[in-house]
Amino acid sequence: MLIGIVSEARRGETRVAATPATVVQLVKLGYDVVVQPGSGTLSSFPDEAYAEAGARIGDPLAADVVLGVNALSTEQLDALKPGATVVGIMGPAFDPALVADLAERPITALAMDAVPRISRAQSLDVLSSMANIAGYRAVVEAAHAFGRFFTGQVTAAGKVPPAKVLVCGAGVAGLAAIGAAGSLGAVVHATDPRPEVADQVRSLGGEYLSVEAGDPGEVEVSATGYAKEMSRDYNARAAQLYADRIPEMDIVVTTALIPGRPAPTLITAEMVASMRPGSVIVDLAAANGGNVEGTVRDEAVVTANGVTIIGWTDLPGRLPAQASQLYGTNLVNLVKLMTPGRDGRLVLDFDDVVQRSITVVRDGESTWPPPPVEVSAAPAAAPSGAARAPGPAGSRAKAPVPARRRFAVVGAGGAALFLLAAMSPPALLGHLTVFALAVVIGYYVIGQVHHALHTPLMSVTNAISGIIVVGALMQIGHGESPNGAAVTALSTIAILLASVNVFGGFAVTRRMLSMFSRS
Ligand code: NAI
Repeated sequence: MLIGIVSEARRGETRVAATPATVVQLVKLGYDVVVQPGSGTLSSFPDEAYAEAGARIGDPLAADVVLGVNALSTEQLDALKPGATVVGIMGPAFDPALVADLAERPITALAMDAVPRISRAQSLDVLSSMANIAGYRAVVEAAHAFGRFFTGQVTAAGKVPPAKVLVCGAGVAGLAAIGAAGSLGAVVHATDPRPEVADQVRSLGGEYLSVEAGDPGEVEVSATGYAKEMSRDYNARAAQLYADRIPEMDIVVTTALIPGRPAPTLITAEMVASMRPGSVIVDLAAANGGNVEGTVRDEAVVTANGVTIIGWTDLPGRLPAQASQLYGTNLVNLVKLMTPGRDGRLVLDFDDVVQRSITVVRDGESTWPPPPVEVSAAPAAAPSGAARAPGPAGSRAKAPVPARRRFAVVGAGGAALFLLAAMSPPALLGHLTVFALAVVIGYYVIGQVHHALHTPLMSVTNAISGIIVVGALMQIGHGESPNGAAVTALSTIAILLASVNVFGGFAVTRRMLSMFSRS
């Protein structure tokens, strides 16, 4: 099949749906690729680079599969061949006219922005990959407009305090903004109604500001794993927190979003008026009405007290090369999913929840909206009366082992140990006691180690494996003793197993280190 990469019709769009690197991957999947001349120019990918990667430069609208960043224009749709599949960010939930138009054509339309937020679909999740870029770029825009250092400095000419940054909403974009602002040296604070994000905020060096607790269960999470609209009570307490903290902030980045609703207003005009001149607010939700009173979509306005409010809605497009690369990779992952035979033939599998969710029109028939998807981020409802065990969101609580079965297992183990001890020579008895104690202590000590400490734990187990290897080497080859053959066999097995741990540990550590090295 032929895949076509279009030039974006939307004004101001700098991204492109494929880069030379993703073209190589599409070709590997068995497709021929045709790229519209000049489509990658604004992302710094010249036509020659596409040609070198194996694409033809020509008319993409004659292709079987047409990949774009945004929905195609009417003229582009008119030029498609019957039976074609078009893929792009279409916003079908907000554009019923587009869905109706697509459904009148003998085509299949797939909306990349409708990928459900489930673990399996993460590699196709364009909203996350674009929000990640937007969060980073929001901080760059803020730094540019701020006109001062983010980091604190002590110089011969005086002391410069670090900038104070507040990020409202710690989802994908918010966490990227926290990371970017922190790495520039700012002191970062963040809010979010979902208390489980507190650890993520802290792991990025930020301080989580929690809104005073109200009714339990007040922060509802929808079946799709997103926060639902907050209660009036919660909003009042959040407003108090913002009113208290915002006057001391230099930069505010707002990313609060409740899917399918207009953006909640978090920062009032009064709060903006309480900020110092020169402060900057970047409102990522500008396209949905904004989180800040006074935001103007696609404009940077300066208030009477000298606060700049930035409402850009094209933040990913301001880093076009990387945005195109990430978006193009999301598309390659979709094409991979839809090419089970790796033979250059796209197959739409309606039984697959991801493919079903993104299908807006199938062969000229509207299939929008798709059935709702229960995502892994949504916490599973606890059975009534059952104690809630702390654990990662969405993980199912393990069913407790019945007490009778536990006693039976412990009893059988004790009896086996007793029999072994009764029949063993006295020297072996001592070893057995040490072994049994080591198993019990090891089970409880290692079982309690926090996940974050598993790497140092691995080093310790490597050291233990080293001791085992030395001990086994000392035992090996004692052929003249009565149990010589058995001892040699056991020692060989011990050396083999311990060596797997030692060398495996080195291999894993090397792989982890290479993840941090700049190639
Ligand atoms: P997300 O769903 O991952 O994060 C949104 C966060 O807002 C969630 O953590 C949610 O709990 C939180 N939230 C909900 N209600 C809140 C409230 N009342 N107060 C504080 N936090 C609240 O969404 P994502 O992907 O991070 O996107 C964030 C925003 O960025 C969206 O509005 C999106 O449209 C926008 N965006 C803007 C771009 C631009 O160029 N301006 C580009 C990409 C995304």
